[in-house]
Amino acid sequence: MAGRDPRQGQAGSPAATAAHGEILFNATNGGGSLEALALAGEANLNGKILIDISNPLDFSRGMPPTLSVSNTDSLGEQIQRAYPRVRVVKTLNTITASLMVNPRQLADGDHHVFISGNDADAKAKVVDVLTNWFGWRHVLDLGDIATARGTEMYLPIWLRMWGALGTGIFNVKIVK
Ligand SMILES: NC(=O)c1ccc[n+]([C@@H]2O[C@H](COP(=O)([O-])OP(=O)(O)OC[C@H]3O[C@@H](n4cnc5c(N)ncnc54)[C@H](OP(=O)(O)O)[C@@H]3O)[C@@H](O)[C@H]2O)c1
Repeated sequence: MAGRDPRQGQAGSPAATAAHGEILFNATNGGGSLEALALAGEANLNGKILIDISNPLDFSRGMPPTLSVSNTDSLGEQIQRAYPRVRVVKTLNTITASLMVNPRQLADGDHHVFISGNDADAKAKVVDVLTNWFGWRHVLDLGDIATARGTEMYLPIWLRMWGALGTGIFNVKIVK
């Protein structure tokens, strides 16, 4: 719709949403992500950028959750393998939801978000989304989608920091 703010959401079926979107977000529970993407339909996903913010958290044995995939694989890679023509970019999965879209609420945005993916052009477009839509100042490109193993395996320490700090509004800043 002309003049519509692209950040304003509208609800729709997985297939209709995927068909409509130019850049898609996978913000489903990690245990259901592959099933949710199947509902969206491969034809509706192919060629598009899929920003994958999901984590493979398994709560079946209580808190804290464990990871349903780790070490030699990641959910980001599973999604990329299942949909080779989709340009999967893993990011934002290490940040609590309200910080994802408003990073400047913490330390004026002086902290990092990571990005992983195989397609350089897709990553450049996602960096544009992160910086120009959401206000991220520091985006660290870790490399291909296999580097999502690192950010997904960050979740166990993220969860312990959340417990120790009593808030999800925290993040890391990378210095060297
Ligand atoms: N919340 C955060 O601060 C945060 C931060 C970083 C990363 N993440 C990641 O973002 C994702 C979403 O997190 P969340 O906190 O919103 O809650 P969540 O419970 O992990 O995800 C809920 C969403 O997943 C959908 N879903 C689950 N199984 C599905 C399936 N088989 N098919 C279709 N849809 C399915 C649910 O749909 P229905 O409602 O229809 O069941 C619901 O929309 C997760 O992977 C999480 O790890 C979240």
